[in-house]
Amino acid sequence: MMNQKNDSRHLSFLILRQIVDEGATLESAIENIARDVSTADRRFIRHLVATCLRRLGQLDRIIDHLTKTKLGNTQMAIRHVLRLGVCQLLFMDVPAHAAINTSVNLVQRRVSKKLHYLKNMVNAVLRAVDRERDALKKKYANSRLNIPKELLKRWDMRYGEATVKAIIDHSLTEAPLDLSFRPDADLKSWAGKLGGKILPNGGLRLEKAGNIKDLPGFSDGVWWVQDLAAQLPAGLLGVSEGDEVLDLCAAPGGKTLQSAACGATVTAVDVSKRRLERLRENLARLSLSAKIETADTLKFKPGRKWKYILLDAPCSSTGTIRRHPEILSSNREKQLEELAALQSRMLDQSVELLESGGTLVYCVCSMEVEEGPDQIKALLQRHSTLKRKEIGRGELPGLEQTILETGDVQTLPHHYDGGMDGFFISRLVKDKGH
Ligand SMILES: C[S@@+](CC[C@H](N)C(=O)[O-])C[C@H]1O[C@@H](n2cnc3c(N)ncnc32)[C@H](O)[C@@H]1O
Repeated sequence: MMNQKNDSRHLSFLILRQIVDEGATLESAIENIARDVSTADRRFIRHLVATCLRRLGQLDRIIDHLTKTKLGNTQMAIRHVLRLGVCQLLFMDVPAHAAINTSVNLVQRRVSKKLHYLKNMVNAVLRAVDRERDALKKKYANSRLNIPKELLKRWDMRYGEATVKAIIDHSLTEAPLDLSFRPDADLKSWAGKLGGKILPNGGLRLEKAGNIKDLPGFSDGVWWVQDLAAQLPAGLLGVSEGDEVLDLCAAPGGKTLQSAACGATVTAVDVSKRRLERLRENLARLSLSAKIETADTLKFKPGRKWKYILLDAPCSSTGTIRRHPEILSSNREKQLEELAALQSRMLDQSVELLESGGTLVYCVCSMEVEEGPDQIKALLQRHSTLKRKEIGRGELPGLEQTILETGDVQTLPHHYDGGMDGFFISRLVKDKGH
């Protein structure tokens, strides 16, 4: 008879396999595979799989060091079992006997019969890890091992080694929970009720959250979940009551909610019906409204222009590794070129839809030069009617270090105490009379 904990290991194994072998996201794999488990089990499963994804490079080096013959592709299931086992032994607070026994059980009961003969090898490797844990942790301490080579190369080139180390160390930690509030909320009082710290731009950060839906203020629609960095672009657009805003690539709607909460009339466009459903739910919970258009930004032909446009384009998402550690095991490098081309077409379309004298804010949750500074440089060359409206230090008090010489913003995971997502933000205005 399998107990709950054993089941959790089995579900973790299935989730890890779906992410690494089939390219699923962490959230979708958990939703597919562990939807009906208790909150405590779900938390354990999420923590185990996320830690495993964050430490995949270190784990694999340790596994390769301890297995005499390298595990081949047909033995991938065994590698996954070992990854989960070593992860529990070295990076989690799980008693050794539990980590080892559940892993051996997985081989015996949950992987193809053809691989059962490797049960003793798994047992021996995990016992060796337990015996040599201090030496192994020291030998394979380098956190760079967890980052794909191509990413490291581009980060080293753009940021330099010391900053890259800080980026990596913060990217491998669990992100805190940041909340955005309606502008009329009494932040001090909510900080007391929720036990949070007030953020420089007016949000709140909770270190321990539990179940979001059980927190005070959730059902009353006082706040929504949004990382500190993701809160910045809508603030920099600078809309107020009565302004009309076009929010392109809007779902699930964090930035739409910000503009709507300021009293702006927002048209929210996204190609994904499913993600727009979440935007609708968020608007309803917050008692806010927006015009919702299910459309491809590139084909959106509304027959009018806007004074304010926010484009939060699809991107490699390398700024959100803390929340989406599966990014480390997916080959985004190949997609980067395609994404950069899409972003540049979306920017052109945004310029087309912008009134003369209007403001466009472009952002991506990325740390890659092609998706940020290079995009804006090329955009300004393509459109002589467009000028950068530099972001000033006074606009981001406490976050001045995120402002680039150009007047754009690049937040990085280590930039604020407790970290923040990596976001590139640029603000542009169209000349009057064009
Ligand atoms: C970074 S997310 C947007 C996050 C959102 N702005 C927020 O604050 O919650 C990018 C969005 O772009 C949408 N998207 C991707 N390609 C698109 C396209 N061609 N047209 C419109 N939306 C698109 C995706 O469905 C996704 O919701």
